[in-house]
Amino acid sequence: MTTVLKLGGSVVTEKDEPETVDRENLRRAADALAKSDEELVVIHGGGSFGHHHAAEHGVSTTDGTHDTEAVRAIHGAMKDLNEAVVDALAVAGVSAVPVHPFSAASRNSAGDLSLPTDQLATMLDEGFTPVLHGDVVVHETAGATILSGDELVVALADALDADRVGVCSAVPGVYDADENVIDRIDAFGDVADALGGSDATDVTGGMAAKVRELLGLAAPAYVFDIDGLDEFIAGEHPGTRID
Ligand code: IPE
Repeated sequence: MTTVLKLGGSVVTEKDEPETVDRENLRRAADALAKSDEELVVIHGGGSFGHHHAAEHGVSTTDGTHDTEAVRAIHGAMKDLNEAVVDALAVAGVSAVPVHPFSAASRNSAGDLSLPTDQLATMLDEGFTPVLHGDVVVHETAGATILSGDELVVALADALDADRVGVCSAVPGVYDADENVIDRIDAFGDVADALGGSDATDVTGGMAAKVRELLGLAAPAYVFDIDGLDEFIAGEHPGTRID
């Protein structure tokens, strides 16, 4: 069984404090992941590390830059966060290893992502837990654009033939218009009106975009918060199931 899990930037960082790790949440997440006995691919978002630099340099998933200082600032901040996440996982006993998408991925001029995954499959076979992150990515004709953790989730879930996908974010699931967690979503049209955006600086676009991308996956996906992570790791159904 292969599980792809995203830890949202709002889970592992203090989203409104520049470049600040949420140590308590990170420790809780690491303890939860240490209980997994399945092959696990971890992806984390940018939170107050990536988004703040991306916004400062006017870089988004579609607006690129040729400014190497901007690329290094965004990538450097994400590498710092990745190191903190990998360290916390290692302390909890997870065989975590870092993988930096900027070093390997690219987009063509239509924006389609190309990301090698053979090395990730070998890492899993050999008992490692690769830990990737939202990043900048070179983009044909645009310089470099943002690659969100959600886009990585989608690309990796399909390429690695994942059995389950988890998106651990700041909310306990996808809310309906009355802020009740929707149990299951199988069509975007049913929930389009109820989905709003994210309130803090987020260059990659909130819950609506997440749901849309997760609906396209072969594997079932679950959206939940840190309180649902133990349940997800135990193979249960926290939050909203999207399939
Ligand atoms: C963003 O990744 C990465 C950068 C801004 C460099 P995500 O869009 O997945 O991050 P979160 O989870 O929303 O913070």
